[in-house]
Amino acid sequence: MTGVSDPAFWDGLYAGRSDRWELGGPPPPLVAYMASRPRPPGADVAVPGCGRGHDARFLARQGYRVRGFDFADAPIREARTLAAGAGVDVLFEQRDVFGLAADYRGFFDGLWEYTSFCAIDPTRRPEYVDVVHALLKPGGWLLACFFPVREASGGPPFSATAAEIRRLFSPSFAFVEAFAPETSAPGRAGIEWMVRARRE
Ligand SMILES: C[S@@+](CC[C@H](N)C(=O)[O-])C[C@H]1O[C@@H](n2cnc3c(N)ncnc32)[C@H](O)[C@@H]1O
Repeated sequence: MTGVSDPAFWDGLYAGRSDRWELGGPPPPLVAYMASRPRPPGADVAVPGCGRGHDARFLARQGYRVRGFDFADAPIREARTLAAGAGVDVLFEQRDVFGLAADYRGFFDGLWEYTSFCAIDPTRRPEYVDVVHALLKPGGWLLACFFPVREASGGPPFSATAAEIRRLFSPSFAFVEAFAPETSAPGRAGIEWMVRARRE
Protein backbone atom coordinates (compact mmCIF):
# COMPACT_ATOMS: atom_id res chain seq x y z
CA MET A 1 0.00 0.00 0.00
CA THR A 2 1.69 3.19 -1.14
CA GLY A 3 0.58 6.66 -0.21
CA VAL A 4 -0.95 6.44 3.23
CA SER A 5 2.41 6.00 4.94
CA ASP A 6 3.56 9.29 3.40
CA PRO A 7 2.45 12.55 5.05
CA ALA A 8 2.28 14.17 1.59
CA PHE A 9 -0.67 11.90 0.78
CA TRP A 10 -2.61 13.33 3.72
CA ASP A 11 -1.48 16.92 3.21
CA GLY A 12 -2.77 16.57 -0.35
CA LEU A 13 -6.20 15.55 0.93
CA TYR A 14 -6.28 18.44 3.40
CA ALA A 15 -5.15 20.91 0.71
CA GLY A 16 -7.74 19.60 -1.76
CA ARG A 17 -10.51 19.78 0.84
CA SER A 18 -10.92 16.01 0.43
CA ASP A 19 -10.87 15.52 4.20
CA ARG A 20 -14.24 13.80 4.26
CA TRP A 21 -13.54 12.48 7.76
CA GLU A 22 -13.63 15.99 9.24
CA LEU A 23 -16.33 16.35 11.91
CA GLY A 24 -15.52 19.83 13.15
CA GLY A 25 -15.64 18.62 16.73
CA PRO A 26 -15.13 15.54 18.89
CA PRO A 27 -16.99 12.42 17.76
CA PRO A 28 -20.32 11.66 19.50
CA PRO A 29 -19.13 8.28 20.91
CA LEU A 30 -16.26 9.97 22.76
CA VAL A 31 -18.47 12.73 24.13
CA ALA A 32 -21.08 10.19 25.25
CA TYR A 33 -18.47 7.96 26.85
CA MET A 34 -16.97 10.74 28.92
CA ALA A 35 -20.43 11.90 30.01
CA SER A 36 -21.59 8.46 31.09
CA ARG A 37 -18.58 6.92 32.81
CA PRO A 38 -16.18 7.82 35.61
CA ARG A 39 -13.28 9.69 34.06
CA PRO A 40 -10.56 7.21 33.05
CA PRO A 41 -7.67 7.73 35.50
CA GLY A 42 -4.36 9.42 34.99
CA ALA A 43 -3.04 12.65 33.58
CA ASP A 44 -1.19 12.11 30.31
CA VAL A 45 -3.17 11.13 27.23
CA ALA A 46 -1.99 10.56 23.67
CA VAL A 47 -4.05 11.16 20.54
CA PRO A 48 -2.35 9.58 17.50
CA GLY A 49 -3.40 10.74 14.03
CA CYS A 50 -5.08 13.70 15.70
CA GLY A 51 -5.90 15.71 12.59
CA ARG A 52 -7.13 19.18 13.56
CA GLY A 53 -7.15 18.20 17.20
CA HIS A 54 -10.85 18.38 18.05
CA ASP A 55 -10.64 15.22 20.19
CA ALA A 56 -7.40 16.39 21.80
CA ARG A 57 -8.98 19.71 22.80
CA PHE A 58 -12.05 17.92 24.13
CA LEU A 59 -9.90 15.61 26.27
CA ALA A 60 -7.84 18.53 27.52
CA ARG A 61 -11.09 20.14 28.65
CA GLN A 62 -11.80 16.97 30.63
CA GLY A 63 -8.65 17.74 32.61
CA TYR A 64 -6.01 15.64 30.87
CA ARG A 65 -2.57 16.73 29.71
CA VAL A 66 -2.92 15.87 26.05
CA ARG A 67 -0.38 15.38 23.30
CA GLY A 68 -1.70 15.10 19.77
CA PHE A 69 0.43 13.57 17.03
CA ASP A 70 0.03 13.81 13.27
CA PHE A 71 2.70 13.57 10.60
CA ALA A 72 0.95 15.93 8.17
CA ASP A 73 1.75 19.62 8.23
CA ALA A 74 -1.62 21.24 7.57
CA PRO A 75 -3.64 19.61 10.37
CA ILE A 76 -0.96 20.22 12.98
CA ARG A 77 -0.78 23.90 12.07
CA GLU A 78 -4.57 24.14 12.22
CA ALA A 79 -4.71 22.15 15.46
CA ARG A 80 -2.33 24.61 17.11
CA THR A 81 -4.31 27.59 15.84
CA LEU A 82 -7.64 26.12 16.97
CA ALA A 83 -6.30 25.23 20.42
CA ALA A 84 -4.77 28.68 20.88
CA GLY A 85 -8.00 30.33 19.74
CA ALA A 86 -10.00 28.24 22.20
CA GLY A 87 -7.54 28.87 25.03
CA VAL A 88 -6.99 25.13 25.45
CA ASP A 89 -3.55 23.86 26.35
CA VAL A 90 -2.60 20.91 24.12
CA LEU A 91 0.82 19.94 22.82
CA PHE A 92 0.74 19.05 19.13
CA GLU A 93 3.72 17.35 17.52
CA GLN A 94 4.16 16.82 13.80
CA ARG A 95 5.62 13.34 13.63
CA ASP A 96 5.03 9.78 12.51
CA VAL A 97 3.27 7.73 15.17
CA PHE A 98 5.45 4.75 14.27
CA GLY A 99 8.44 6.58 15.73
CA LEU A 100 6.85 7.73 18.97
CA ALA A 101 8.09 4.95 21.22
CA ALA A 102 11.63 6.30 20.96
CA ASP A 103 10.58 9.30 23.06
CA TYR A 104 7.38 8.26 24.79
CA ARG A 105 7.83 4.64 25.86
CA GLY A 106 5.63 4.01 28.90
CA PHE A 107 4.78 7.72 29.16
CA PHE A 108 1.01 7.81 28.79
CA ASP A 109 -1.76 6.88 31.21
CA GLY A 110 -4.25 6.68 28.37
CA LEU A 111 -4.58 6.81 24.62
CA TRP A 112 -7.58 7.80 22.52
CA GLU A 113 -7.85 6.13 19.13
CA TYR A 114 -10.21 7.42 16.46
CA THR A 115 -9.76 7.21 12.69
CA SER A 116 -6.02 6.68 13.02
CA PHE A 117 -6.10 2.85 12.94
CA CYS A 118 -8.21 3.00 9.76
CA ALA A 119 -5.78 5.45 8.14
CA ILE A 120 -2.65 3.34 8.33
CA ASP A 121 -1.61 0.68 5.86
CA PRO A 122 -3.43 -2.48 7.09
CA THR A 123 -0.21 -4.49 6.78
CA ARG A 124 1.22 -2.24 9.51
CA ARG A 125 -1.54 -2.95 12.03
CA PRO A 126 0.53 -5.31 14.21
CA GLU A 127 3.23 -2.62 14.31
CA TYR A 128 0.60 -0.03 15.26
CA VAL A 129 -0.65 -2.21 18.11
CA ASP A 130 2.96 -2.54 19.31
CA VAL A 131 3.35 1.25 19.29
CA VAL A 132 0.13 1.81 21.24
CA HIS A 133 1.26 -0.80 23.74
CA ALA A 134 4.72 0.75 24.03
CA LEU A 135 3.38 4.27 24.63
CA LEU A 136 1.16 3.26 27.54
CA LYS A 137 2.18 2.61 31.10
CA PRO A 138 1.46 -0.92 32.35
CA GLY A 139 -2.22 -0.90 33.29
CA GLY A 140 -2.84 2.17 31.16
CA TRP A 141 -6.04 2.49 29.17
CA LEU A 142 -6.76 2.38 25.50
CA LEU A 143 -10.06 4.00 24.64
CA ALA A 144 -10.91 3.51 20.99
CA CYS A 145 -13.80 3.98 18.67
CA PHE A 146 -12.96 1.81 15.69
CA PHE A 147 -14.44 2.86 12.36
CA PRO A 148 -15.41 1.53 9.88
CA VAL A 149 -16.07 -1.87 11.43
CA ARG A 150 -17.35 -4.07 8.63
CA GLU A 151 -16.20 -6.47 5.93
CA ALA A 152 -14.89 -4.30 3.10
CA SER A 153 -11.75 -3.93 1.05
CA GLY A 154 -9.94 -0.83 -0.09
CA GLY A 155 -9.37 2.44 1.67
CA PRO A 156 -8.57 4.68 3.37
CA PRO A 157 -10.50 4.36 5.53
CA PHE A 158 -9.44 0.72 5.81
CA SER A 159 -12.13 -1.40 7.42
CA ALA A 160 -11.63 -4.02 10.08
CA THR A 161 -13.98 -6.44 11.77
CA ALA A 162 -14.41 -6.67 15.53
CA ALA A 163 -12.88 -10.15 15.42
CA GLU A 164 -9.76 -8.83 13.65
CA ILE A 165 -9.41 -6.00 16.14
CA ARG A 166 -9.73 -8.39 19.10
CA ARG A 167 -7.16 -10.72 17.58
CA LEU A 168 -4.70 -7.88 16.94
CA PHE A 169 -4.94 -6.26 20.36
CA SER A 170 -4.92 -9.53 22.35
CA PRO A 171 -3.00 -10.63 24.30
CA SER A 172 -1.12 -7.35 24.85
CA PHE A 173 -4.42 -5.71 25.88
CA ALA A 174 -7.26 -6.99 28.06
CA PHE A 175 -10.66 -5.93 26.76
CA VAL A 176 -12.62 -4.26 29.57
CA GLU A 177 -15.70 -3.29 27.58
CA ALA A 178 -16.70 -3.26 23.94
CA PHE A 179 -19.98 -2.07 22.50
CA ALA A 180 -21.68 -0.33 19.61
CA PRO A 181 -21.99 3.34 20.56
CA GLU A 182 -25.52 4.71 20.84
CA THR A 183 -24.67 7.89 18.97
CA SER A 184 -22.46 8.33 15.93
CA ALA A 185 -21.74 11.08 13.46
CA PRO A 186 -23.95 11.02 10.33
CA GLY A 187 -23.09 8.06 8.11
CA ARG A 188 -21.15 6.24 10.83
CA ALA A 189 -23.97 4.61 12.82
CA GLY A 190 -23.74 0.84 12.85
CA ILE A 191 -20.11 0.72 11.73
CA GLU A 192 -18.44 2.04 14.88
CA TRP A 193 -17.20 -0.09 17.77
CA MET A 194 -16.19 1.40 21.09
CA VAL A 195 -13.50 -0.41 23.08
CA ARG A 196 -11.88 0.18 26.44
CA ALA A 197 -8.87 -2.05 26.99
CA ARG A 198 -6.14 -2.29 29.60
CA ARG A 199 -2.52 -2.40 28.56
CA GLU A 200 -1.06 -5.67 29.90
C1 LIG B 1 -8.63 10.02 8.58
S1 LIG B 1 -7.63 11.28 9.26
C2 LIG B 1 -8.40 11.46 10.89
C3 LIG B 1 -7.95 12.67 11.66
C4 LIG B 1 -8.63 12.82 13.03
N1 LIG B 1 -8.40 11.66 13.87
C5 LIG B 1 -10.10 13.09 12.87
O1 LIG B 1 -10.92 12.23 13.26
O2 LIG B 1 -10.45 14.16 12.34
C6 LIG B 1 -6.14 10.40 9.64
C7 LIG B 1 -5.04 11.28 10.16
O3 LIG B 1 -3.95 10.44 10.54
C8 LIG B 1 -2.74 11.03 10.10
N2 LIG B 1 -1.78 9.93 9.96
C9 LIG B 1 -1.88 8.86 9.13
N3 LIG B 1 -0.81 8.05 9.28
C10 LIG B 1 -0.03 8.63 10.24
C11 LIG B 1 1.21 8.29 10.83
N4 LIG B 1 1.88 7.18 10.48
N5 LIG B 1 1.72 9.10 11.78
C12 LIG B 1 1.05 10.24 12.14
N6 LIG B 1 -0.11 10.63 11.60
C13 LIG B 1 -0.67 9.83 10.67
C14 LIG B 1 -3.11 11.74 8.82
O4 LIG B 1 -2.22 12.77 8.51
C15 LIG B 1 -4.51 12.26 9.14
O5 LIG B 1 -4.48 13.56 9.68
